[in-house]
Amino acid sequence: GESGLWGGRFASGPAAAMAALSKSTHFDWRLARYDLAGSRAHARVLHRAGLLDEDTLQALLAGIDALDADVAAGAFTAAADDEDVHSALERGLVERLGADVGGRLRAGRSRNDQIATLLRMYLREHARTVAGSVLDVVQALVEQAAAHPGAAMPGRTHLQHAQPVLLAHSLLAHAWPLLRDVQRLRDWDARAAVSPYGSGALAGSSLGLDPAFVAAELGFTASVENSIDGTASRDVAAEFAFVAAMIGVDLSRISEEVILWATKEFSFVVLHDSWSTGSSIMPQKKNPDVAELARGKAGRLIGDLTGLLATLKGLPLAYNRDLQEDKEPVFDAVDTLEVLLPAVAGLVATLTFDTDRMAELAPQGFALATDIAEWLVRQGVPFRDAHAVAGACVRRCEERGAAEGRPVELWDLTDDDLAGISPHLTPDVRGVLSTEGSLASRDGVGGTAPVRVAEQLDAARDALAEH
Ligand code: ARG
Repeated sequence: GESGLWGGRFASGPAAAMAALSKSTHFDWRLARYDLAGSRAHARVLHRAGLLDEDTLQALLAGIDALDADVAAGAFTAAADDEDVHSALERGLVERLGADVGGRLRAGRSRNDQIATLLRMYLREHARTVAGSVLDVVQALVEQAAAHPGAAMPGRTHLQHAQPVLLAHSLLAHAWPLLRDVQRLRDWDARAAVSPYGSGALAGSSLGLDPAFVAAELGFTASVENSIDGTASRDVAAEFAFVAAMIGVDLSRISEEVILWATKEFSFVVLHDSWSTGSSIMPQKKNPDVAELARGKAGRLIGDLTGLLATLKGLPLAYNRDLQEDKEPVFDAVDTLEVLLPAVAGLVATLTFDTDRMAELAPQGFALATDIAEWLVRQGVPFRDAHAVAGACVRRCEERGAAEGRPVELWDLTDDDLAGISPHLTPDVRGVLSTEGSLASRDGVGGTAPVRVAEQLDAARDALAEH
């Protein structure tokens, strides 16, 4: 056990409950490959500093490779009394090479700079996988947008009908946040690409080792400027957890819409059988479980972030054992996203939209009232007055609707209704009282006019192609 790492000043080994509390191999074992890569680089830097002769270096490298193969094959695993992945792998090396050779690698490094480095290596690699899977969701949204170039739907604010929009415009509104999440991962990587190896326990190394060499060996762009910062900080892990939580939140917003759209009341989408579930008791059920799990897992990802921040808050410099708690939140975030993102991509890619129903509902609920007001502005009426006139039109519709016992929409107003509300309301106003007219008129940059949304689709495709 740990007598291997610090036996010198201790008369007894750890109590069983102490060892059980201390142990991390059940979650840090996934860092074994990175630990061994760090050991190779560390052996080389000891050799360059004149602290290992050529034969010992070669023996160490061969031993590390053999151990790596055994780890990959599952032939070497953590023993019951190994505290963490670092101590287990050192044990493995000493078992293979003897203490005289295997025991030389600990010079000039500490588990404190090791763990800080390995966590960055792990997260940088998985950030690439996560980004690729986020882009798959973006791809699915873009393809659905491209497949429905002219389809209109009710655009909503406060979940109430607001103005008609294109379905493609709405789908792309979910694509851009996810593209920004991918950008966030890229920006983050520039900060994560700095290696703490060589910081030692906190104060740096006295052995003439070159941290920049180790950093380059391990795929980093630089080594840390400050060994205390290198071993004590975890903002890189917290920032990763934030981006993961943001991705979760963005997926949950898509999911909430899918859940609503799949209800009997909306009936905007039908879910593919492969991406939905049934009920064990109600034969008719087809449930949006992918979307609900996405919504639920967003909570879990937020918990990973807040748990990590709570661990970091108030920690004095430099390394404290609290920092062992940094790993499970970010590992959980990676695991969660790696299982969630492919399912959301599949869900989105296979949605079938009832575009007739969406188009029928698009102008309802007086969603063209703004178009009346803006038509009046184009006739020279001040917007304040135009807003009041359009509001009076809505009120007239509601009065007539109540009297006639059926819904009366803006386009049902007669010439007399219009003239009675305002002399500015000539029958020409009917030109804007259609979904097509409303959509086409919103042709400012970023607007929902089909011509603008086609440009937006090209821009989203360009952004996808850049990654
Ligand atoms: N297992 C520890 C961690 O995950 C790393 C080693 C530092 N431990 C120590 N007692 N100094 O943070």
